Amino acid sequence: KNIVVLMGGKSSEHDVSLVSAKTVIENIDKDLYNVIMVGITKDGQWKLVDRLDHLEDGSWVNSKTSAYICPDTGRKELLLERDGKVDRISIDVVFPVLHGMNGEDGTVQGLLELAAIPYVGCGVLASACSMDKFYTKIVVDSIGVRQAKFVGVRRHELTHMDEVVARVEAGVPYPVFVKPSKAGSSQGVSKAENREELIDALNLAAKHDSKILVEETIVGREIECGVLGMNEPKASGVGEVLSAEEFYSYDAKYNNEESRTVVDPELPEGKAEEIRKDAVAIFKALDCSGLSRVDFFLTKDTNEVVFNEINTLPGFTAISMYPMLWEARGLSKKALVQKLIDLAMN
Ligand code: DAL
Ligand code: MG
Repeated sequence: KNIVVLMGGKSSEHDVSLVSAKTVIENIDKDLYNVIMVGITKDGQWKLVDRLDHLEDGSWVNSKTSAYICPDTGRKELLLERDGKVDRISIDVVFPVLHGMNGEDGTVQGLLELAAIPYVGCGVLASACSMDKFYTKIVVDSIGVRQAKFVGVRRHELTHMDEVVARVEAGVPYPVFVKPSKAGSSQGVSKAENREELIDALNLAAKHDSKILVEETIVGREIECGVLGMNEPKASGVGEVLSAEEFYSYDAKYNNEESRTVVDPELPEGKAEEIRKDAVAIFKALDCSGLSRVDFFLTKDTNEVVFNEINTLPGFTAISMYPMLWEARGLSKKALVQKLIDLAMN
């Protein structure tokens, strides 16, 4: 069977995606699947990646073979074009190992729906909704799970910065977190302690998205939970992120070796169970399927569980929580990848 692994992409998480994809590819059972690697460049060109080491040395971006998925329903084909000549390969399943915009947000999922090709992970609605922190808030509110207070701002409103600042200050106390509504790996996110910093933070977030979320700061431990499955999704154990920096920024996540993840940390009685239960409830409420990692805070003084965010295509790198959580439950990376493919195909 032919499995197409999509990686890279136009999102700010391009580089992380390549590292995640490598782990996924290494763990696909090659006796069952012929892996076809398709890299999407930062400017959105789809290229056939001939060899895994071309992924590692970055030379795949110069690949002479362009790859396209044909949206014509029922053809289920990858078109490979080189020097004007087109080859066709049938596709059995796609594993979109794409994080963030144009990959984790329902757009690629929409293409695959048009093409009627099975794919790993969440569908269009769940992907789009989970990528948008506003809509996620609305859905999670509806099931009564606690989350940070927030104020939403649109980019065009920043031309009246005074009004925006007044609205934010009326809604959430400093210090606040300012986040692009749709962005991954904490890019464009910053913390503001006062009005001056708020203005800078809003302008920064506006570079990443036209919608911005300003949230109350929740002080607490960062606890994450994996969810896997389709109709009866199951929660993994929980893991804790120990950040070397003040918050889990992009730099802390990928460039700072002191950021550590701990599986099954010591938590107050009943809290791991509560988080696991909430994770599954959120997964279901957002109409997720296949996989997601649901992130929470456990507040410092009161030990309250507060939902933070969901990732429908969580990182799959060597330091990533999602595969580690399942390994701790006895599901190896190979078994996890196989399970995800099976879920997509059934
Ligand atoms: N968005 C990154 C990859 C994560 O949360 O794992
Ligand atoms: Mg993300």
